[in-house]
Amino acid sequence: MSPATFIDAIQNQLQLTQYGQHPPELYDPIRYIMSLGGKRIRPLMTLMAAYLFSDDWQKAIQPALGVEVFHNFTLMHDDIMDQAPLRRGQLTVHEKWNHNIAILSGDVMLVNAYELLLHVEVDKLKAVMTRFNRTAAEVCEGQQLDMNFEKRWDVTESEYIEMIRLKTSVLLGYALELGGLIAGADAETTRHLYEGGVNIGIGFQLKDDLLDVYGDPEKFGKQVGGDILANKKTFLLIEALEKAKGPVRDELTGWLNKPVTDRAEKVQAVTAIYETLQIRQITESRISEYFDKGFANFDQINADPARKTLLTQFVRQLAERES
Ligand code: IPE
Ligand code: IPE
Ligand code: MG
Ligand code: MG
Ligand code: MG
Repeated sequence: MSPATFIDAIQNQLQLTQYGQHPPELYDPIRYIMSLGGKRIRPLMTLMAAYLFSDDWQKAIQPALGVEVFHNFTLMHDDIMDQAPLRRGQLTVHEKWNHNIAILSGDVMLVNAYELLLHVEVDKLKAVMTRFNRTAAEVCEGQQLDMNFEKRWDVTESEYIEMIRLKTSVLLGYALELGGLIAGADAETTRHLYEGGVNIGIGFQLKDDLLDVYGDPEKFGKQVGGDILANKKTFLLIEALEKAKGPVRDELTGWLNKPVTDRAEKVQAVTAIYETLQIRQITESRISEYFDKGFANFDQINADPARKTLLTQFVRQLAERES
């Protein structure tokens, strides 16, 4: 079995899935965002986790796509909240259509996600749904904290980690747990899958923060510097606020407090301060730490070594990603 088998299965299910037809203003944006690609890491993680415990991993395909549809719904709303112009190298839905369309299409995507998740055996349904509901509420909690933090200057590193655990990591944890649940893994095993996913997810969001500053715009597909422009309390900014002293600190807080006139100038200046403070190196080592924690969780799982290697090699690439 190779990752391509799982990728093909997801591609195939993407082709088969119907989101709805009328009115087109409601459903076209769903087809649009789902067609823009993306790494599809969450459904891949679900399938790879299911394959750890069952040859019949195909029965996880529809629920796996449910997780991907949910993820894309959160992106559609997140891009309104973050005033983001680009997603996967193309216009965001609220830019291509408008805010109301992005809100309502996103809402119906949540319903589509539920429909896909329902395709599990009856004895698994309650666990799958209960855990999904908890996760979905936590993503919203994290997104609200992210918004609250834009207006605060005293966000600590531990508050930040908790915020990204909620907005990003729990869904990666759930994606793995879901595969385990569907494949009949025991409770202890699904817990290791979930916790591994959460740790990897924290590393993954730290990497996203890093790429938002240092990414190649072509590969990243999102506006580079968007977090700096929004005064997002990313790991990089929190670390910089903690480390900066004297004139460097005055310069940094100056940029954060004054209204933006020249966007590129602000991004460049804040990035230069990050360079001075070696924020990039600090972030990279923190990313490795969280990925290692995730691998330690996976070490606790008892499954066929070749199947585990498939999953860990895939996850390893996420730490090196450029998009
Ligand atoms: C973007 O997720 C949002 C974050 C949680 C950082 P991905 O980086 O998985 O986005 P796509 O789906 O590949 O576009
Ligand atoms: C959002 O984090 C994660 C979600 C829950 C949607 P970001 O706002 O950093 O995600 P991107 O960078 O826009 O993909
Ligand atoms: Mg956001
Ligand atoms: Mg965003
Ligand atoms: Mg981001």
